[in-house]
Amino acid sequence: MIRFFACGLAAFLSVVASAGFARADIHALDFGKTKNGEDVKIYEITNENGMKVRVMTRGATLVGLEAPDRNRRISDVVFGFDNVQGYESKDNGYFGATVGRYANRIAKGKFTLDGKEYQLATNDGPNHLHGGDGRSFDKVVWKARRFENPGECGVKFTYTSPDGEEGYPGTLEASVTYTLTDKNALRLEYSAKTDKPTIINLTNHAYFNLAGAGSPTINDHTLRIFADKYTPVDATLIPTGEIAPVEGTPLDFRKTTAIGQRVDQLTATSAKGYDHNFVLNPKKRGEELTKAAELVDPASGRKLTVYTDQPGIQFYGGNFLNGVKGKNGQTYAYRSACCLETQVFPDSPNHQGQEGWPNCVLRPGESYKHTCVYAFSVKEKETKRAADKKSAKEKKS
Ligand code: GLA
Repeated sequence: MIRFFACGLAAFLSVVASAGFARADIHALDFGKTKNGEDVKIYEITNENGMKVRVMTRGATLVGLEAPDRNRRISDVVFGFDNVQGYESKDNGYFGATVGRYANRIAKGKFTLDGKEYQLATNDGPNHLHGGDGRSFDKVVWKARRFENPGECGVKFTYTSPDGEEGYPGTLEASVTYTLTDKNALRLEYSAKTDKPTIINLTNHAYFNLAGAGSPTINDHTLRIFADKYTPVDATLIPTGEIAPVEGTPLDFRKTTAIGQRVDQLTATSAKGYDHNFVLNPKKRGEELTKAAELVDPASGRKLTVYTDQPGIQFYGGNFLNGVKGKNGQTYAYRSACCLETQVFPDSPNHQGQEGWPNCVLRPGESYKHTCVYAFSVKEKETKRAADKKSAKEKKS
């Protein structure tokens, strides 16, 4: 009888949630221990529309994001694992992790700051990637504090990286706050302070498939990136220093385009597909954040719009995915998800002062600030006439 009642209650709650009348909630769950025996927790955040986000203390990692489709069906649209060991495995792909101290690449792991040369780990061929090896931000356990405000709730993660950790100068006090709003937006706010001059570039490495994580491809997803330029890379994915127009290249996403339409033109290049930093067009007057990208799964209608205050966004198309097993028995196949990582440009430490290149140096008394908003909505089925009209309008804008 009790089991019958429980099933009935679960069914009732799922109908209530899909009808958009869920109760906002945030609670913590134990998620096991790291290989070093540190306790790991997951915080599960639900908003009043039934959208759910799960974030983990190890790596301040986004481990789940359930968003509605045009029929209010909820699916988890980000990659993850069912246990800590998955995130500690060699094929973890930085799934959902907060990446730092410096996300993306630094040529030969070297940079000079105030006349002093620093050597970081070269953990990606000849270069430094995503903060290094043992103590990069995706691997450490962050402290967590939950909060609830009217219309939103979330978790603030904090971590203090000691002077010299992974070769970086300065003791860095970092935080990343995940806030889920009742408007189905997930806001990520990064901040940091240092006691010595250092470099910094934090980001989130979520892998999205808006048809549902584990779906076979993103080739049918459409993408628009609000960038007229990008930073071309060399054979080791280090920017050449040039800032070039996307026009006439497979990187031209100024108009909404299916990801699979031109991706194979890049397969034989060093990037092996899409894995490029786009130079975002400046925000319009009066706007708080730049609209960076729009990703849509036409079949489900799920739409992700990315806003940020950062100058760049890395569009990575999952070229290194190899069928790794993820949560709920999902298989993460080649190019079956994409990342939209807001950031300063790769290798910026070696381009400081160069025209068009952003600052990545943080000094005592300054605050590093970075906001990224992943806003979820739905797109109604589009008639051919409406699609042609939209394409013509995008051409003008
Ligand atoms: C970033 C890089 C990619 C790849 C992924 C992690 O997106 O740009 O080249 O290293 O991280 O697999």
